Amino acid sequence: MYNVKKIKEDLFWVGANDRRISLFESVYPVPTGISYNSYLLTDEKTVLLDTVDKSASHQFFENIEYVLSGRKLDYLVINHMEPDHCAEIQTITEKYPDLKIVCNAKTQAMINQFFDVNLSEDNYILVKEGDTLNTGKHTLSFVFAPMVHWPEVMVTYDITDKILFSADAFGAFGAIDGNIFADEVDFEGRYMDEARRYYTNIVGKYGPQVQMLLKKAAGIEIEMICPLHGYVWRKDLEKFIEKYQKWSTYTPEISSVLIAYTSVYGDTQNAAEILAGQLAELGVKDIKMYDASVTHPSYIVSDAFKYSHIVFASTTYNNGIFVNMENLLHDIVAHNLQNRKIATIDNGSWAPTCGKAMQELLAQLKNIEIVGQHVNIKSSVKQDKITELEELAKAIKASM
Ligand code: FEO
Repeated sequence: MYNVKKIKEDLFWVGANDRRISLFESVYPVPTGISYNSYLLTDEKTVLLDTVDKSASHQFFENIEYVLSGRKLDYLVINHMEPDHCAEIQTITEKYPDLKIVCNAKTQAMINQFFDVNLSEDNYILVKEGDTLNTGKHTLSFVFAPMVHWPEVMVTYDITDKILFSADAFGAFGAIDGNIFADEVDFEGRYMDEARRYYTNIVGKYGPQVQMLLKKAAGIEIEMICPLHGYVWRKDLEKFIEKYQKWSTYTPEISSVLIAYTSVYGDTQNAAEILAGQLAELGVKDIKMYDASVTHPSYIVSDAFKYSHIVFASTTYNNGIFVNMENLLHDIVAHNLQNRKIATIDNGSWAPTCGKAMQELLAQLKNIEIVGQHVNIKSSVKQDKITELEELAKAIKASM
């Protein structure tokens, strides 16, 4: 049965939720699911903006058939070709053979890479930056946003209703639980962490490109943001845009310490716990600790974008970095984290190599400051190391 949500008089959410999925993109845990958003504008011409993942196909087609109520579909605007949004392109062109696909040249090439569609040039309206499409009451304008998150990405701006269809930007992990607008839920309490984890892991690497999009968006009046995942924004847009400003410029949200450790027998954890306690005694608030062997790296990457200071503590293993810490560090480097103050602790019973290897990896990050002296534990924490950890805690506090 259809499940549509009315957003404006002639605009409907026709997407679907997936709460069975365990790993989004086969890598990111999504314990509260994911929504695949698609929007249908019922102007004098009908316009579908993006499709959904193949897992949502059945619900999606029930939704658009209900909203169309026998009308034909005139246009399909494709903002993004990743298969969580484009999976139904082939089916939809078969169901509505007269429709025109509105997209850019890179998107057209990708359609032919992903699908075996039987389309001619007459099926396409190829757009360039700033081109417009009038659909009756509405005029849509197309703004390119390359690498937010793929090279073909564009966003669509409804000039008439001042709505930005923002593709992956301003999305969040988590299914839509009945409500459709972010102001109808406790977004800060329930969803902001998942919005940050979504942003940092999906597009965190592309901060400069997100900055370019934010600059373009600053030049237009936006009353509503309709992303491809998560809730629709119609109030307090500036609060979410401000988060995007911070995340895309790699600016910490809070001045505090994130400690990520891996520990085989508990001694490296012990050092991390002692340091955390010393920091607390020095007045540092809201310290966060993760065992990187237990917590999926996407959560730690997300908090790495939030915190100003990060301590990495790991045991030496196979003459290098313990595998789960190495995986986390590679992930942080891959996501282009910048502007952080970092300290390291390692443990090695006979040939400690982990600390140097961690610092070499972290040296790839831009504008990183190593704080305090590296602390090396030999097997377990002894009194002299308590003193070294104390000195490290003081150096971290002094740098805040
Ligand atoms: Fe939700 Fe880049 O796709």
